[in-house]
Amino acid sequence: MAVERTLSIVKPDAVAGNHIGDIYNRFETAGLQIIAARMLHLSQDQAEGFYAVHRERPFFGDLVKFMTSGPVMVQVLEGEDAIRKNREIMGATNPAEAAAGTIRHDLAETLDANAVHGSDAPETAREEIAFFFGDDELHSRG
Ligand code: PPS
Repeated sequence: MAVERTLSIVKPDAVAGNHIGDIYNRFETAGLQIIAARMLHLSQDQAEGFYAVHRERPFFGDLVKFMTSGPVMVQVLEGEDAIRKNREIMGATNPAEAAAGTIRHDLAETLDANAVHGSDAPETAREEIAFFFGDDELHSRG
């Protein structure tokens, strides 16, 4: 199984709910290493840029408004099959449909305030990691 990197965001609802430690513990317990991390409050421009692929979707304005409503934690996860593994730990986009034991089932309430973001494919992961971090900020432990 290939070692991959993926971009993860702990969204404003989960930061406000003091769930950062719980979520990081789930990543590490699943064998994913946190090789970069930063807390930041996204600007309107940053949120619109990060979610540009969803620009035409009806929920775009709500998504940007929510993602700029408070601080987020942004991190790069590394490990075998990291992209799929992270999405499995996250659970379905809609918390009402997320499997028991996933982050969104356990910690999220609604479709917009759904606790976490994770890259969905290798190319997206590369773009999303580069959106927030330079190569010299990724501390891979091999
Ligand atoms: S997926 O799996 O990322 O493709 O999911 P998708 O349904 O396409 O949703 C993309 C992101 O938009 C968020 N979303 C919403 N935000 C606000 N309101 C509504 N109704 C809504 N529906 C979807 C969803 O949480 C996804 O955010 P990220 O950060 O990519 O997980």
